[in-house]
Amino acid sequence: MSSPILDLAGLTLEVNHLPRGVRFYTQVLGLEVQHLDEAAGVARFGVNAAQTLTLWKPVTRQPNDPRLAPLRARGASHLHYAWQIHPSDLERCKALLDAHGLPWQEIDLGTPERPDPTVYFFDPFGHGLELRGVDLDDERQPTYPPEETGRPEQALPVLGLREVALAFGDYPAMKERLPRAYGFALAKEQPDRDFAQFTLGPAPELDGNGTPRRWLYAWDPQVGLADMLGGDHAHVQFYAQVEQVRARVEAEGLPHLLEEGRLAVRDPEGHVFEFLPPR
Ligand SMILES: [Fe+2]
Repeated sequence: MSSPILDLAGLTLEVNHLPRGVRFYTQVLGLEVQHLDEAAGVARFGVNAAQTLTLWKPVTRQPNDPRLAPLRARGASHLHYAWQIHPSDLERCKALLDAHGLPWQEIDLGTPERPDPTVYFFDPFGHGLELRGVDLDDERQPTYPPEETGRPEQALPVLGLREVALAFGDYPAMKERLPRAYGFALAKEQPDRDFAQFTLGPAPELDGNGTPRRWLYAWDPQVGLADMLGGDHAHVQFYAQVEQVRARVEAEGLPHLLEEGRLAVRDPEGHVFEFLPPR
């Protein structure tokens, strides 16, 4: 049976200082503010036509999104996530990070025959960011392919969100639950650590080699590549066949709410997943 998950729609990061977050994500990533509410502690940015990035500053006794209050949603802490770029922009990205005074680390995730250099750095809140090249001519296109959006000169030329990595304390239970309770397509496990890769698309695929596909990574709460942690209490949005996911979530008995065709679910590990209908 094919997965009801269509693509990665957005993610929410927890920050302790909203103006600082807005400065970083507008100046370094060149994202445009779509919605800003200082009192609610919320800033949302457009990444491309299909994806968003949101910052939530926790405010006592005040949910950032009242709609999700019953699920006690929070932004992710110390999340590892990746951006898609043109491979030919990698060198310019390193120079731009230098110009912004941000330390970075380059790691080649490819093979000697087909290198896949990727660059890691941190935002001011301890979220671990990655820049990963995509081959726009690859036939493995996601539902909403990476897009040119014309970032400002001094901003990183990102095309889309590529992956999100979440921490799970009970790894074996997670590995059974994510496919069963939501329909995520398990593609692969790393041989050397508790690290599962889920393809955000109808069928499991192999990662790497420039694929423009999007990914959900799930790993144990250990430090991974480039000192990156997986996120705790993450809030992640996916495009999906919502009715199919709802049937699974109900069978699983997970706390959820359905509003205007959007399904929000609290995972037992404290992550809140939202499933949005296709655009
Ligand atoms: Fe990564």
